[in-house]
Amino acid sequence: MVDRYIDFWDVDIGVYETVDEMIAPSSRHPDGWQVLKNVEWIKKCKEAGIKTPFGTCGRITSPDLAVKVRKEGLDMVGLVRPSISDPHWARKVREGRIDEIRECIGCNTCVSYLFKKHSQMLCIQNPVVGLEYLGYSPEAEYPKVKEPKRILLVGGGPCGLEFARVAGARGHEVHIHDKMPELGGNIRYVVSKITARRNWIRIVEWRERIIRKKYPNVKIYTNSKMDAKKIAEYGADVVVFATGAVWDKKGRNPITKRPIPGHEKPWVLTPEDIYIHKKKVGNRVFVIESCGSWLGPWIAVDLAFEGKEVYLQTFPFPLESAASNELGSRLELGTLDALCKSAGVQYVEPFTYPEEITDEGVKIRGFFLDGWAATVATYTKWFADPIYRIKKKEWTQFIKCDTVILTTMRVPQIELYEQVKGMWKRGEIKGLKGVYLTGEALTPRTYYELPYPMFWSHKLGKEI
Ligand SMILES: Cc1cc2nc3c(=O)[nH]c(=O)nc-3n(C[C@H](O)[C@H](O)[C@H](O)COP(=O)(O)O)c2cc1C
Ligand code: SF4
Repeated sequence: MVDRYIDFWDVDIGVYETVDEMIAPSSRHPDGWQVLKNVEWIKKCKEAGIKTPFGTCGRITSPDLAVKVRKEGLDMVGLVRPSISDPHWARKVREGRIDEIRECIGCNTCVSYLFKKHSQMLCIQNPVVGLEYLGYSPEAEYPKVKEPKRILLVGGGPCGLEFARVAGARGHEVHIHDKMPELGGNIRYVVSKITARRNWIRIVEWRERIIRKKYPNVKIYTNSKMDAKKIAEYGADVVVFATGAVWDKKGRNPITKRPIPGHEKPWVLTPEDIYIHKKKVGNRVFVIESCGSWLGPWIAVDLAFEGKEVYLQTFPFPLESAASNELGSRLELGTLDALCKSAGVQYVEPFTYPEEITDEGVKIRGFFLDGWAATVATYTKWFADPIYRIKKKEWTQFIKCDTVILTTMRVPQIELYEQVKGMWKRGEIKGLKGVYLTGEALTPRTYYELPYPMFWSHKLGKEI
């Protein structure tokens, strides 16, 4: 009966109250997770005689998943985030270029920025989304340059690859040098090693695939550590540094920048120490997060599921507070909290900070005032200002552990850039016309804010 009023049905799981199911991040559900569930409903509707076409969505990121949906008897495939990530998804399928599809990673940066800023859209995979009206093209369809430059690019992480892709599309000769055996930087070697972030490898895999397929003028040299002498003798017209950022080894935080006393002990590790340098993590682990990247809590979950006893301290904001709206708006808070609890991660009291790392563990200092709102309001002041601090009711606690993991703040790797720029300014490098810094080496942020440094790199590739 409804057939004559309805053009098509879109069947999805979730309503506004369960929006983390509807717009599920990849930390919560795998790609295409809704499809099989929705198919059951749709089959029942069809058996009841409804003839109107049916479609569904739910991170149908790849054509393989789309084919599966069609094989299950659905008439249409819906792509919301997959078409933000790649607006040319359907065209690429039609033209048989499925290897060029830029698959959504399910990070929910898009929906988070829409929630927070209402009209502004950001996407990690597509850093020019919403800027098409200013002439930006997600596919880098820009006019070719008349006089191609010979560009030396130091660093082949996500932002370096974005620069190389765009500069390569315009016809420049780009030489990517990366010290690691594979391209991809921190995303390949750290972030994508964490279970909840596995899909993030697509950021760098897609860019490398496109460069290798479409731009023979972009040369790739891995295991190639550059120094100032090599750069000076390279004969490049321009040098671009996309050397990225690393986790601070001193445990400094973005508010006070104070190092944590005891940070130099060998059992104090950063994510690079664990995933790149393969340093051993003990059985009693204390994870400290203070920059809003929430990488630390996801590492805590993985380690706890490995059977380790894990303590998690997030400051200045507790994981579950309204202030952690970054996680809330990304629709990840519920999943992270539930996984922490089921894995047995023990939360350190809120409104504390790590005062000192000793040979036996971590000494934490905290305070408590009457009422949650008062605590939130005064916490940052107390934490940042030692004079204010003495007036408050304070307490300390000692937590025994054999490993401390720091995800407190990311610092840019710019020493080589500054050295080469100095040499260039002093006229010590013949023929060199420009030295640029881009990506996270320019603006290290939380991984969620990767669209910004990716955009700067895209813009540099468009304009250089
Ligand atoms: C940025 C963004 C905005 C959305 N806005 C709405 C909305 O206003 N109303 C709605 O019912 N669903 C909205 N959705 C949910 C989508 O319609 C869709 O159900 C969900 O994203 C799952 O599909 P996908 O995995 O293909 O993204 C939005 C999703 C995104 C990513
Ligand atoms: S921001 Fe993340 S989730 Fe949203 S479309 Fe882009 S890749 Fe997908």
